[in-house]
Amino acid sequence: MIKTILPALVGTLAIHLTPSFAAQTPLTEPTFDGFGGNPSIRTLTHESHPDHSLTIQAHGPKNPTINSDAPSLSYICPGATSGYTGYLNHGDKHFYFAYFESRSKPTEDPLVLWLNGGPGCSSMTGLFMELGPCTVNEDGESARENPNSWISAANVFFLDQPIGVGFSYHTNDSFHGGEGGTFAASEDIYAFMRLWYKAFPDSRSLPFSIAGESYGGHYIPIFADHINEMNKIVTLDEQVPLESVLIGNGIFSDTKQASSYYDIPCTNVTGIGPLLDSKACERMAGAVGRCEYLMEACHAYPDPLICGASSQYCSDELEIPYFKSGRNYYDISRPCEGYLCYPIMNSITKFLRKDKVREAFGVNKRAPDFVGCSNKVGREFQKVNDYIIDTRPFVAALLHSGIRVLIYVGTYDWICNFVGNERVFGSLEWKGLPDFRYQQENNKQVWSGGLWWESGPLRYARVNGAGHMVPWDKPVEALAMFKAWLDKKELS
Ligand SMILES: *[C@@H]1O[C@H](CO)[C@@H](O)[C@H](O)[C@H]1NC(C)=O
Ligand SMILES: *[C@@H]1O[C@H](CO)[C@@H](O)[C@H](O)[C@H]1NC(C)=O
Repeated sequence: MIKTILPALVGTLAIHLTPSFAAQTPLTEPTFDGFGGNPSIRTLTHESHPDHSLTIQAHGPKNPTINSDAPSLSYICPGATSGYTGYLNHGDKHFYFAYFESRSKPTEDPLVLWLNGGPGCSSMTGLFMELGPCTVNEDGESARENPNSWISAANVFFLDQPIGVGFSYHTNDSFHGGEGGTFAASEDIYAFMRLWYKAFPDSRSLPFSIAGESYGGHYIPIFADHINEMNKIVTLDEQVPLESVLIGNGIFSDTKQASSYYDIPCTNVTGIGPLLDSKACERMAGAVGRCEYLMEACHAYPDPLICGASSQYCSDELEIPYFKSGRNYYDISRPCEGYLCYPIMNSITKFLRKDKVREAFGVNKRAPDFVGCSNKVGREFQKVNDYIIDTRPFVAALLHSGIRVLIYVGTYDWICNFVGNERVFGSLEWKGLPDFRYQQENNKQVWSGGLWWESGPLRYARVNGAGHMVPWDKPVEALAMFKAWLDKKELS
């Protein structure tokens, strides 16, 4: 049985995981309670989060690290601005982050946290393949500047979570990583932001957004909801200024998105279909209803026996036929070649295993050799039934609080495709549903990347011809969409 891992994401149906502040004007010097042995590495604590601490190391053209023999980060990653790398520490657990200030106006541009999915996939994929300052070259030996990086318009963090992912690590062998699933991780994300604002109080004036893709459709609504709920009970000057969330090709509801595993390969809704023969498609059509019914049983009675049977059936009937076609799970227009179906993923792994790269990026020596996605973490998420969490009510709660939500979806993705996303948002229960549904049915607008529509705080954008990793396939359009969203402008 295929138990594939996907990168930024996850098979909805089964367990397949799938997949400075310095350059111009520093916002402010960080204020620290304590210093580690290395004077360039500083550790900060927070009275409200006694179990957590933040370790920060400056990097960048104007802030070379103390070890002058080591190549600077911007030499390893051309196009990088000043910023910080470091770890959020929680007992034996250490979460890695890399932060880059905006290429434009670092003291005014929004602050954005980027998270890849999986569960168990590293946000370094986002950094080095999609929207970071540099892109790894095919040979895996070096990287080139990414002119369409989202740091063109925002100050951006890339965070590796949960523990066991990317450069995050633990120092207690009784951990596998990912224990407790998405809800457990939301505490750490919240602590991270609180510590960040203590270190850099001026950044509190910048609008804050969380962005990500794929299993980010689970992470982001739950993390953002936790921040929003905490904001209601802390004092004004302790609030996290959460303004919006952005979710690309997300998985929100396995039951609602399951039927789309028929539409993508068996119809021409993508403009390049159908991809499978009519005999295979007839069988799939017959399996959709039963798969949904079994999933509902798993939701009602989330026992491993019931959920295991439902995921097995749905995978066998709706996923395997597509896997067998040899196409890329994230992009129906390409063959599946290389780790996670992309040769560039192999290049990224090779690059991030180099000592000089790890050193420039402030990676702790105890962090394991880089892997794009961790299977162990996926299994921990399965233990707590994280995959079947329905995150739609969390999205609705954000919308009702006035937090803006951008859903953008590359139309060539299979795993978390646009048909499934449009079923989710065309029926999402919130006060704006009637108008949003009207816009979706009758009032789609055209932009350079495809079609889009919105109602109140909820915007939906299709990105034609992009796969799962939208900024990789359509870098210019993705940046234009990102900028328009942050500027609260229409897509054009
Ligand atoms: C490792 O973690 C387990 C579970 O949290 C704990 O009981 C144990 O004491 C820890 N071991 C060490 C060496 O800290
Ligand atoms: C699928 O749609 C595209 C774009 O509308 C069209 O050019 C193509 O002929 C269609 N293919 C089939 C098999 O109908």
